[in-house]
Amino acid sequence: MGYIGLPTASTFATNGITVVGVDVNPKIIKTLQSGELHIYEPGLPDLVKTAISNGKLRIQSEPEEADAFLIAVPTPFYGDKQADLSFVSSAAQAIVPHLRKGNLVILESTSPPLTTTGLVAPILEQSGLKAGKDFNLCYSPERVLPGQILKELIENARIIGGIDTASAEAGRDLYKHFVKGEIILTDATTAEMVKLMENTYRDVNIAIANEFSRLADRFGIDIWEAVALANKHPRVRILNPGPGVGGHCISVDPWFLVEAAPDITPLIHTARKVNDGQPEFVVRLVKRALGSLRNKKVAVLGLSYKADVDDIRESPAVEAAHLLVQEGARVKAFEPYKTTAEIPGLELVSSLAEVFSDAEAILVLVPHTPIRTLEPEVVAKLTPARIIIDAVNTWPVEKWTSGGFKVYRLGVGRS
Ligand SMILES: NC(=O)c1ccc[n+]([C@@H]2O[C@H](COP(=O)([O-])OP(=O)(O)OC[C@H]3O[C@@H](n4cnc5c(N)ncnc54)[C@H](O)[C@@H]3O)[C@@H](O)[C@H]2O)c1
Repeated sequence: MGYIGLPTASTFATNGITVVGVDVNPKIIKTLQSGELHIYEPGLPDLVKTAISNGKLRIQSEPEEADAFLIAVPTPFYGDKQADLSFVSSAAQAIVPHLRKGNLVILESTSPPLTTTGLVAPILEQSGLKAGKDFNLCYSPERVLPGQILKELIENARIIGGIDTASAEAGRDLYKHFVKGEIILTDATTAEMVKLMENTYRDVNIAIANEFSRLADRFGIDIWEAVALANKHPRVRILNPGPGVGGHCISVDPWFLVEAAPDITPLIHTARKVNDGQPEFVVRLVKRALGSLRNKKVAVLGLSYKADVDDIRESPAVEAAHLLVQEGARVKAFEPYKTTAEIPGLELVSSLAEVFSDAEAILVLVPHTPIRTLEPEVVAKLTPARIIIDAVNTWPVEKWTSGGFKVYRLGVGRS
């Protein structure tokens, strides 16, 4: 019942399917059963409410017999970047006692190649039933954009990879209850690879943008101007640089390919390292702006991994804030979409007034709408700080400069 499972369950439940929403976290069960939500996603509270009140969605801690089972559990990595498939294994295990002939099982969690056939199928077969013969088994990647999950669940093209044709067709028959985008059938391993390739493609492209930002800094040019000019080329589309790559997907998934085939993935591996090194590059910029970081009071704006979401998992903004603390800075951080979050080693405050009150510099890490739309005259009244380090090029330089601030931007080597 996370970012993927809960929207999927409620969308099925509001499209005529009876759904049992299962989670192993008792806090989540309690929250959902009391009519509250534990995650932020526009439109989701109303959808969940409708699904529960019309009796189509029940939330509980154990699965029960069903026609179809969907697995949307986390697939993080261990400290050594090896995929942690323990959640997938235990979810599959929990299905075993309830699996019956003719059932359909779909794995949606982003997974290394061959997980469906090599890990999930053998676990499910502990039931005594044979995958393909007695029950259908698919891999169907989720490709929604947080912030637009409810729309994209329905409208995005959906890839359904079956362990055989009958499985893929059974998957299609289920998803077509709500999917309006194209539904494309393939085999399970291709579907696993497609998802990993999509996110790896993004990661590698962000890495080159980040590396360009370092080059721009060194050669005294403005990366934002240079990217805009390069993108005038009809076949070039360079992405924007930033403080790194985070979230549950793009910063994690490429490792699944590197781990699965380290001898043939040097580019993917290097891109990961470039993006993981970007918070450090941002901290160097802050240091340049402030001289030294020791005891400097820095107001950090934004901690999530990208704009207008509340997800702080693997966030490079959190990493940058930690690095500042390690360098001796006195950091106060404000995440407008998670004002009550607690992150060990960081002082989080719950309002702009608090984060600004005694700051000497402002570091903008995430271009959230409530941050992007701040006006210099408003901020000037809230803080003594007159130095801004903008890692996401979110505040128009001229406006803020004439508002009395000195602005340093990521990837801008011009003094
Ligand atoms: N969040 C996204 O935008 C996104 C997009 C595409 C794909 N994905 C992929 O979807 C999968 C799920 O991601 P998420 O963001 O929804 O994660 P999440 O952490 O928000 O939710 C996962 C939920 O699964 C629960 N869980 C763990 N083990 C369980 C078990 N054995 N049985 C039942 N519940 C269990 C957890 O308590 C948690 O609530 C991941 O593989 C992720 O990579 C996520």
